[in-house]
Amino acid sequence: MTIPGFTSTGSKRPDVLFGSATGMPRSMTRAEGCRLWDGAGTEYVDMMMALGAVALGYAHPAVVTATSEAVRAGTVGSLPPTLELDVAERLTAAIPGAEGVRFFKSGAEAVAAAVRVARVYTDRERVVTCGYHGWLDWCQSEPGVPRSVAALRTEIPFNDVDALERAMERAAPVAALVLEPVIDAAPEIEWLQAARAVADRTGAVLIFDEIKTAFRLALGGVAQRYGVVPDLIVLGKAMGNGFPVAALCGCKDVMHAATRTWISSTLATEFASLAAVRAVLDVFDGEAVVEHLEKVGAVLFGGLERIAERYPGVFARVRGIPQMCYLHCTDSTSWESVAAGMARRGILCKFAAYNFVSLAHSDQVVERVLQQLDRVAGQVEAAC
Ligand SMILES: Cc1ncc(COP(=O)(O)O)c(C=O)c1O
Repeated sequence: MTIPGFTSTGSKRPDVLFGSATGMPRSMTRAEGCRLWDGAGTEYVDMMMALGAVALGYAHPAVVTATSEAVRAGTVGSLPPTLELDVAERLTAAIPGAEGVRFFKSGAEAVAAAVRVARVYTDRERVVTCGYHGWLDWCQSEPGVPRSVAALRTEIPFNDVDALERAMERAAPVAALVLEPVIDAAPEIEWLQAARAVADRTGAVLIFDEIKTAFRLALGGVAQRYGVVPDLIVLGKAMGNGFPVAALCGCKDVMHAATRTWISSTLATEFASLAAVRAVLDVFDGEAVVEHLEKVGAVLFGGLERIAERYPGVFARVRGIPQMCYLHCTDSTSWESVAAGMARRGILCKFAAYNFVSLAHSDQVVERVLQQLDRVAGQVEAAC
């Protein structure tokens, strides 16, 4: 195979999407709105929305126009683009606590930069984490990660104040407390506030990894929605509506530590992705994107709850929040049958990780998805 373990994006691997089901779409050629087309030209309604990388819909006209102009303007040059400053200023105005911004190409890179900055700022090494923060060494214990690097990190469960406080005490002195603020459920405000308080008390840098939640729950993510402001916020995914861009934002003091280490990447400031961010910010300014995602997400979430109740042999419960949710199946194989059954009906859904609604998903589209899911679940339960 020319791409070992096809594909380079692990969460799009055929076995991750459909298990061992055969005849499933393996690759795609184009996408528009909430639909995509596979290599054979078959159309699908997409509920996964590129792992949450797109919240306005695929090929959103404002993003297409802005990025096409950026490509015509040369894409890169030997000086930093004025666009970098423009977009950074827009982000500092929109994101809670953001007084400085650095751009990156991937979420993993941006969170790694946040941790590097925190280590420089505190002159400490240990980190306490909750959630997924990308594939890089600092936050993994996979084969190939040096044990000495993995030993610097303590992982804590979500929404558990006691575990958070215990871990911060045991791991002291801690450079960074890095939280993914939504994991299969909404955060408890007490947990977020406890994180803020323990970071203040111990001198750790509080980092919210808002790669999935910013530009979705609110433009400024959970920090804005819950009013708990971390020292650093990491943005990605929906911010670029499909373009490769992420950002680290935060308070001036901590961000300044970025100048005392080496954090840099050749294409971090290419125009197309920055133009995409500016176009996305314009759309958020002009349209009620957050409200739409919440409203259409509520239709999806409510429908999934009803289906989970109707087919207890197939589904355990709904996980997530309206804007990003999925049905958790009762056993490790029934999800394959449901995912494959839905794909055969022209709908791509996930059952072990989030589906994401977008501005392109109407109530009607979601209702149709729910009707089809009801039928497929009925067939799978009858076959159990
Ligand atoms: C919360 C969170 N942090 C970090 C990452 C890594 O981002 P990327 O895949 O762009 O490197 C992801 C990706 O799913 C994520 O959801």
